[in-house]
Amino acid sequence: MPSQTVRHDALPTPPSSAARAHCVDLDEHDPLAALRERFSLPDGTIYLDGNSLGALPRATAARVADVVTREWGQDLIESWNSAGWIAAPRRVGDALAPLIGARFGEVAVADSTSVNLFKVLTVALRIAHEDTGRKLVVSEADNFPTDLYIAEGVVEQCGDGAALKLVPATASDARAAAIVAALDPSVAVLMLTHVNYRSGAMHDMKRLTRIAHESGVLVIWDLAHSVGAVPVDLHDADADFAIGCGYKYLNGGPGAPAFLWAHPRHVERFRQPLSGWMGHAAPFAFVSGYQPATGVDRFLCGTPPILSMAALECGIASLKDGDANPMRGLRAKSIAMTALFIELVEAHCGDAMLLATPRDPALRGSQVSFHARGAIAGRGYAVMQALIDRGVVGDFRKGATDDEDILRFGFTPAYLRYVDVFDAVTTIADVVASGSFRDARFDVRAAVT
Ligand SMILES: Cc1ncc(COP(=O)(O)O)c(C=O)c1O
Repeated sequence: MPSQTVRHDALPTPPSSAARAHCVDLDEHDPLAALRERFSLPDGTIYLDGNSLGALPRATAARVADVVTREWGQDLIESWNSAGWIAAPRRVGDALAPLIGARFGEVAVADSTSVNLFKVLTVALRIAHEDTGRKLVVSEADNFPTDLYIAEGVVEQCGDGAALKLVPATASDARAAAIVAALDPSVAVLMLTHVNYRSGAMHDMKRLTRIAHESGVLVIWDLAHSVGAVPVDLHDADADFAIGCGYKYLNGGPGAPAFLWAHPRHVERFRQPLSGWMGHAAPFAFVSGYQPATGVDRFLCGTPPILSMAALECGIASLKDGDANPMRGLRAKSIAMTALFIELVEAHCGDAMLLATPRDPALRGSQVSFHARGAIAGRGYAVMQALIDRGVVGDFRKGATDDEDILRFGFTPAYLRYVDVFDAVTTIADVVASGSFRDARFDVRAAVT
C-alpha cells in the first residue's frame, strides 16, 4: 500500500522519464486505483481542486436524472413518501456519519455550512451562557471568512457582553499555543476550522478540545476541508459541535447541502434559532407553536433540496465500499501524494515556490499550498491561470497580507494518480521557467479565483 515510505529517493532531478515510470509503478500497485473509475474526469485535465469543488461521480448524472424524470416527473408529490425524499436529511447524514466518527442519527444534512454554523454557534453560546455565564467566542484571524462573518452576526444578536476575539495569524507550528493562550476564564466557545483553507495546516482536534474543556470552553469544529479528506473522530475527540461542506471532498456537486453534528449531551439543550417547520416535532400536524423535534432533526429548517441531496448521496457513496470506513486508506494515499508533490516541486521549481503547508504530514490535510516567490512573486494569479490553461487545475488565494500570493493544490486520493502528481509538477516547472504566465490574458481576474 502506498504510504509515507514511497521511494522518493528514486526521483532524480530534473524530471525524468525514469521518475515518471516510478510513479506509473506506484499507480499499478495502488490498492485504491479502481476508485478513479467511479469518477468522470475530463481528458487532459489534472484536477487538483477537489478541495474547492469535488469531481463528478459517474453515478450522479443518472441518479439525478432518475430523480427528475421518474420520482418528480412521474410520481410527483407522492415521492416525498414513496422515494424517501422526506427522510433524505437523516439518511444522507447516516451515510456520512462514519466518515466523521459520529453515530447513526446524529448528523443532519441541510442548508449551507455558513447557515449551520449560525445554528450551532447560537446554541453553543446559549449553553455556555446558562452553564458559565460566559459570552466570548474565540477563533483565528485566518479562519475562513464566512465563519468569522457568521460569528460577528451571532455575537451581535446575542447582545450584551457577547463578543468575538481573534487569535492573530501566526506560523503553523505556533498556532495551537496561541489558541491555548487565548483560553482565559471569560471564553465561552472556541470555534475552529480543522484544516485551514489557505495553508492546509491541520489542528490536533482531540488535544485542543481537551484543553478547551479543561477551561470550561465548548468547541465547534468546521470540517469543510476535513470530511472525506482526513479521518475525523468527533466522539473520540469529545467535540461539542461540528459542521462541514458537501461539495469538496464529498463530491456532492456545486452548492451541495452541508452537514451538522451536535454531541448528544447538547443536542436537545436549546431550540436552534432557525426554528422552521422541518425541525418541528410534527411538521405535518400544522399546529400553532414551535415544538422542536427530538435529536438532531431539530436542526433542520426548511424543505430539503432533493436534487442536491441525491447528488450528495452519490458523492458519499463514491468514497465507500460497503460499510467499511475508507478514510484510513484514503489518508495513506493522500499523505504519499502530498509528500511526493512537495518533494517534486521543491526539486524542480527552484526558489519560485515556497512551501506554505506543514512539512510534517500529521500536521496537514489533503492540500498543499505554496507562496509565489522569486520569478513569480506577485504573479500567483497569472501563474494559476497559465496552469489551468495547460490542464493543471488548482486555485489561487490571497495570502494573509495583500502582497502574499498563495497557490493551492488539493489532492483527492479517490481519483488522482501518482503520475498526475508527476505530470502536474512538470507543467508547473515549465510554466515557471518559461515565463508563459506573463501573457496578459492570464491577468484577467474572474469573479471566482
Ligand atoms: C472552512 C470553510 N467553511 C465554510 C465554507 C463555505 O461555506 P458555505 O458552504 O456556507 O459556502 C468554506 C468554503 O470554502 C470553507 O473553506
